[in-house]
Amino acid sequence: MAWYHTTSIYQIYPRSYYDSNGDGIGDLQGIIQKLDYIKELGFETIWFSPFYSSPQQDFGYDIADYKNIAPEYGTMQDAVQLIEAVHQRGMKILFDMVMNHTSAQHPWFVESKASKNNPKADWYIWKDKPNNWKSIVGPKAWHYCEERNQYYYAGFLPFQPDLNYRNPEVKQTMFDTCRFWLEKGVDGFRLDIFNCIIKDKDFKDNPFSIMQAIPSQEYPGGNFQLRKYSLNQDENFALAQELRSVIDEFSNPPRLLLGEVFGGHDTIKKYLGKQQDGLHLIFLFDILFYKFSASFFRKKILEYEHHYPFPNMPTIVFSNHDAIRSIHRIGNNLEKAKLLALLQLTIRAVPCIYSGEEIGMTNGNIPLKKGKDPLAKVYNWIPQFIVNLLPVGINRDNCRTPMQWNTNKNAGFSTADKTWLPVNTDISERNVAIQQKDEHSLLNVFKHLLQIRKINPALQSGSLEIIPTGNKQILAYTRTLGGEKLLVLLNFSNSKITNHISTPIKEVLFSVNSNPTFKGILEGLNGVVLKL
Ligand code: NOJ
Repeated sequence: MAWYHTTSIYQIYPRSYYDSNGDGIGDLQGIIQKLDYIKELGFETIWFSPFYSSPQQDFGYDIADYKNIAPEYGTMQDAVQLIEAVHQRGMKILFDMVMNHTSAQHPWFVESKASKNNPKADWYIWKDKPNNWKSIVGPKAWHYCEERNQYYYAGFLPFQPDLNYRNPEVKQTMFDTCRFWLEKGVDGFRLDIFNCIIKDKDFKDNPFSIMQAIPSQEYPGGNFQLRKYSLNQDENFALAQELRSVIDEFSNPPRLLLGEVFGGHDTIKKYLGKQQDGLHLIFLFDILFYKFSASFFRKKILEYEHHYPFPNMPTIVFSNHDAIRSIHRIGNNLEKAKLLALLQLTIRAVPCIYSGEEIGMTNGNIPLKKGKDPLAKVYNWIPQFIVNLLPVGINRDNCRTPMQWNTNKNAGFSTADKTWLPVNTDISERNVAIQQKDEHSLLNVFKHLLQIRKINPALQSGSLEIIPTGNKQILAYTRTLGGEKLLVLLNFSNSKITNHISTPIKEVLFSVNSNPTFKGILEGLNGVVLKL
């Protein structure tokens, strides 16, 4: 099985990881200093949110030069050193590729908006009369530009104009941008809002839908509009295959495309391609909104097994730089977080863990009105008590607070007097140094699980079968590869449950509460991996 189907991914938000030069902002040299930490934890791949040149209006997701590095993060030399340093440690490195839009300060857009007849005039989407499409996150997608007496389309925020992929020059330039980094050794890309890139060629109006007030994974609409013509177009599925052939030019070693795609399973499958000739992996974001129960996960696993059988591989993510931290959903309970880690690292999936998740970092408390996140600025009229009730984070600062390394100044993240976002208040027990010393910590649960994943190929690529347990609170499944069979049992309740197993157990490979034996009794919130 290819490396990207068996790997484990760690996501770094560079601005918040480690500040090596004391300016309050994380940087590439800081990350390089922490690579041994990630290696020792046992992750095999690191995905970096963007650190290219950018005015940072959306903290890097607004790129002004795809082939340069923002000075607050470092230099091109640092980026090359980072790629090499990751490789020297035997890990893979993924960059973030934002193909859909650039920053409005990108020289391409500056040129494009200057007149209707410059060489880049058609590189973005310009219309004399806008259609009814709305932005994914704000009310308006079309913005008037005096120089051209026209409107440009920005599917996300106004300072992120969408590129026009119906212009072959644009497509080739972005493909070449990918090649540029692949030549430098990058192992692939996480693809930002990949399902938005190619739009309906006639720009037909999107249908109104009363049911689509709020977007969902299955129906990524919102603002009372079905995104029939602005998302998931046939040409966009084809783009996945075209990009795949670019990536496949670099086959030694093979490279990975990991898509951020909003849509139901049928849509996601189209991006993967019938012959597995599209994107290799796609985040299954529906699980971000999990319910902490055995029945929820049993159903989800069956659903994923049904939709993504071999040779596909689901990609499981509970937290990222856009979402409320997963631990918030479970009352910041570390024991529940350990059970989730067990699930995430043992089901048939590529696990993607967001930095800080391994120590149970909680969501920040930065009020909407103080948000640096451009989304917080768009929605700053919403009263805070409503914000607190929403299932989605509209002040994404709260999941981006600095990484907590120890209990020193700024949790060891930076020596600056002021960090770009305030450090969270939960640092006494949620920090790396303290959890490294505690063999029962969440951090050590991750470490241990990543180790057993590595030495038991059945956990990486074995088939999965759900096992009936006779108790609704226990989730049980086997992972089988060749002669190797493992049984995973998770008790989602707070009480002790007896679960006798008829098959003899050869070994207890892992137990959340570190009990080396298993006599058929599972303590509350405990879970085990047993070798049969
Ligand atoms: C998705 C990214 O994850 C998010 O952080 C960003 O704001 C938007 N795409 C726009 O690029």
